[in-house]
Amino acid sequence: MSAIRLARGFTGRSKIIKFEGCYHGHDDSLLVKAGSGALTFGNPSSAGVPAETAAHTIVLDFNDIPGIEQAFNNWGKDIAAVIVEPVAGNMNLIAPNAGFLTKLRALCTQNGSVLIFDEVMTGFRVGLGCAQGLYQIKPDLTTLGKVIGGGMPMAAFGGRRDIMQCLAPLGPVYQAGTLSGNPVAVAAGMATLKQIQAPGFYDKLSTRTRQLVDGVSAAAKRHDIAFCAQSIGGMFGLYFSREIPTSFAEVMQCDKAAFNRFFHAMLEEGIYFAPSAFEAGFVSAAHGDIEMEKTLAAADKIFKNW
Ligand SMILES: Cc1ncc(COP(=O)(O)O)c(C=O)c1O
Repeated sequence: MSAIRLARGFTGRSKIIKFEGCYHGHDDSLLVKAGSGALTFGNPSSAGVPAETAAHTIVLDFNDIPGIEQAFNNWGKDIAAVIVEPVAGNMNLIAPNAGFLTKLRALCTQNGSVLIFDEVMTGFRVGLGCAQGLYQIKPDLTTLGKVIGGGMPMAAFGGRRDIMQCLAPLGPVYQAGTLSGNPVAVAAGMATLKQIQAPGFYDKLSTRTRQLVDGVSAAAKRHDIAFCAQSIGGMFGLYFSREIPTSFAEVMQCDKAAFNRFFHAMLEEGIYFAPSAFEAGFVSAAHGDIEMEKTLAAADKIFKNW
């Protein structure tokens, strides 16, 4: 919410672009779903969001390069910001196609729009340098949450100095909050950031996550279940589908009933995955050999009796 306000204040423009299936929190401008037909302005996706507010949000398809080019052709000089989860984690895990993030970077630079990477989910999960480090693309602003507070309620945004200098008290864009800079949350966050810098931390986390997705995939294959999976760092996606989806439309075609059946069967075995076919999963450093063996044995048992 604050990053969007800042981008609008910095550019003096109103329109923003977001992608269907990406979630960026409960700000009015972002609780917007695609309008009827591609390249129309959005409709509110929650009661209480004025249509006038949603009208400033353009909703496009993740990974659709022609779509984003067309939007910039139509409204380039009116677009304050493009906000994106660089690896989408709120519609299961959808990885960016080659060239998608590069294209966003190039079009924002050409049009003077602010590129915002929402790394609330990818931050310190796909790597120490977050998704922007992994894909070597520098956004203008970054939003962070979840991991950065080490489990305490904390969020942050930051980026280019010339943009950040538009914030009060240096600039005219207002931002404040009773709990901003809460010392307990900051201390927890600092302690977490210190721990994850330990040598080999991300190699171990990535290997562990890959072990999970490879193991569940192998169990599915043994019992001929239409299933696939992928991981990026400590994030993973499980799909009841033969192919890994690369868009919101493809993820919607995965077998949701099969996921629900798998989820409940795993829960019966004591393994608690995210309770939705449309959320990415996370492995943490606390997951060890015992948890992994138990999880893979449970998946094999369930697929065997499928
Ligand atoms: C990518 C992403 N951005 C933003 C948010 C919003 O965070 P909060 O619920 O702390 O406002 C979430 C929450 O799940 C998220 O996954």
